[in-house]
Amino acid sequence: MKKKITILPGDGIGKEVTACGKKVLEQIAECFGHEFVFDYAVIGHDAIESTGDPLPEETLTKLKNTDAILFGAVGHPKYDNDPTLKVRPEQGLLKMRKELGLYANLRPIKLFDELLEASSIKPEILRGADILFFRELTGDVYFGERGRKNNNETAYDTMIYSKFEVERIAHKAFKAAQTRKNKVTSVDKANVLESSRLWRAVVQEVAKEYPDVTVEHMFVDAAAMKLIQNPRSFDVVLTGNLFGDILTDEASQIAGSMGMLASASVGDKVGLYEPIHGSAHDITGKGIANPLASILSAALLLDISFGLKEESETVIKAVEKTLQEGYRTKDIADSSTALEKILGTEVMGNVISNQVRIIT
Ligand code: NAD
Ligand code: IPM
Ligand code: MN
Repeated sequence: MKKKITILPGDGIGKEVTACGKKVLEQIAECFGHEFVFDYAVIGHDAIESTGDPLPEETLTKLKNTDAILFGAVGHPKYDNDPTLKVRPEQGLLKMRKELGLYANLRPIKLFDELLEASSIKPEILRGADILFFRELTGDVYFGERGRKNNNETAYDTMIYSKFEVERIAHKAFKAAQTRKNKVTSVDKANVLESSRLWRAVVQEVAKEYPDVTVEHMFVDAAAMKLIQNPRSFDVVLTGNLFGDILTDEASQIAGSMGMLASASVGDKVGLYEPIHGSAHDITGKGIANPLASILSAALLLDISFGLKEESETVIKAVEKTLQEGYRTKDIADSSTALEKILGTEVMGNVISNQVRIIT
């Protein structure tokens, strides 16, 4: 199979981890006889520095003409520390999601058994946890452009959802549940917010088309609690953009680390694959970032965009095998990890890539 993959390293550890994701994709191509042609484009702080625009037209054109995108992260301390700056790296990411119609962000929370001890949650609560989040990605308060203002005295954003936006992601979530444990938990704040009351009503309507799927509705505050109290009680979680953003960072602790969570953003056409974490200024340049989220995002890319199931499973198996052999990055190491088994970003990428070759 011949495919074009565009890499958007972005900022901070985005560059470090996408290099590992790419390496594993190259190994897969070699082992399975595919031809993946890679090209690069700029986004975020990097793009602002070189062009003044966090999502230059040239980048967008490349993205519209590629088969799949592997993205790192955007963000820079300069902007985080100065809320008055008008041009910001994150605008590039949001515009890209909107322009490419990437309305559904799938965030699987899968705990590798080997990492039971890496989490701060008790192993007996965690064992077997397997959740698939459907986070709506192009609506909500992130895109309430009809009402967003800051006059330095008062500021507001608008949380807004339209029926069609809820319907299309709800269908995706229910269909996914049919291939899993047939349960959807829809998370909102319908006891307070009008946009959530619309969300809940639409999900109730869509649910009627899937009588084999159990649906439950949960308020976001209770869901945040329940995720930690009993993560195994969830199967598919369907939620809006803001709640999904927050709950999935929380849920990363079920998988052991922010460095473990991959995601797939899909919608109208091309798919984009990225870790859920950010540019992690605190560890940028130290060579210690966990590349597994990017590598697992590459596995999602192979499966969802290219339909290469065996290749995708090979990547996941290589990760599993590497963890079984005791290798860890610093964020997922525990007191029992031998010092020589704690690897840096690049070496971990190489170990997984070698493992792909050994397995195939
Ligand atoms: P973050 O996800 O970058 O980091 C949160 C914490 O998790 C940090 O302690 C970091 O060291 C750790 N962490 C994250 N990824 C890791 C990895 N792969 N391996 C080991 N540890 C890891 O979130 P933040 O600190 O709130 O944000 C930093 C910047 O990233 C901000 O500018 C923010 O806007 C941006 N951001 C971007 C994205 C994205 O591009 N998708 C996502 C989240 C945050
Ligand atoms: C994420 C990030 C982004 C979001 C930011 C950087 C715009 O936190 O991808 O989870 O909030 O969607
Ligand atoms: Mn986030």
